[in-house]
Amino acid sequence: EVWTLLSARQLASTQKMLEENAKNLPDRTIVVADTQTEGKGRAGNKWISPPGCLMCSIYCNIAMEGRKLPLLQYATTLAAVQALEMLCGDSGKGPPGSTKPFASIKWPNDVYINGTKVGGVLCQTVYKGSGAFQLIAGIGINVDNAEPTFCINQALRDLDREEIAKEELLAEMIPRLVHAYRVIAKDSFSPLHEEYYRYWLHSGQKLKVKADASLRDGEGGEDKDVVVVGLSEDGFLLAQDEKKVLVELYPDGNR
Ligand code: BTN
Repeated sequence: EVWTLLSARQLASTQKMLEENAKNLPDRTIVVADTQTEGKGRAGNKWISPPGCLMCSIYCNIAMEGRKLPLLQYATTLAAVQALEMLCGDSGKGPPGSTKPFASIKWPNDVYINGTKVGGVLCQTVYKGSGAFQLIAGIGINVDNAEPTFCINQALRDLDREEIAKEELLAEMIPRLVHAYRVIAKDSFSPLHEEYYRYWLHSGQKLKVKADASLRDGEGGEDKDVVVVGLSEDGFLLAQDEKKVLVELYPDGNR
């Protein structure tokens, strides 16, 4: 399988570049930029894009059921934290699950270290007909930039470990991404659950669900206290209320 890698010193946004040019580029193209002048974050936010931050967007066409689309952002975030674990983690130095992962997932798609966001994922899909979707997955990871918050290399220095280069992180991430997208398209997210839950921050977390949150079964009616239990097959956040009734929350409906 061939992937095309395009690299630029500066772009407005790797995401925008692919949105505007995907039709003229080969399927499976990755665009990387050293800096961006108009980096895009989720929900219309800006992504601060200084040198040192790994900023890339991945374009590929995937044949899959539309209901599984929210899972692609989880797969992308999972690939990012797995790659970080591979390069920076303690894995293998104790029984499985005994060590805290180097970076964790804040649902739906933020990368966190010690309570601070160090990376994020933005997935955009467009239906292309015949059961296929065009995916443009953008990833930003603060590898070596102190601004705006904290970065991977600072975390590594604090642990007396060797710093990493953003190219290494990209190289570790891409095969994991490709694997995870394949699993989702062919099967579902469940083969990835175990890995995913190793990194995510929410098992057993208590939440207040607002009456106007987007619940799968319509509007909530009143505020509810719930405990997070996991993810549903098609990417909803699953939580249990006091009566052990399961509620499902959609990624963008719960802040
Ligand atoms: C978020 O946490 O809000 C998602 C941030 C995604 C940022 C990346 S940087 C590379 C790609 N190009 C963009 O303009 N945005 C994404």
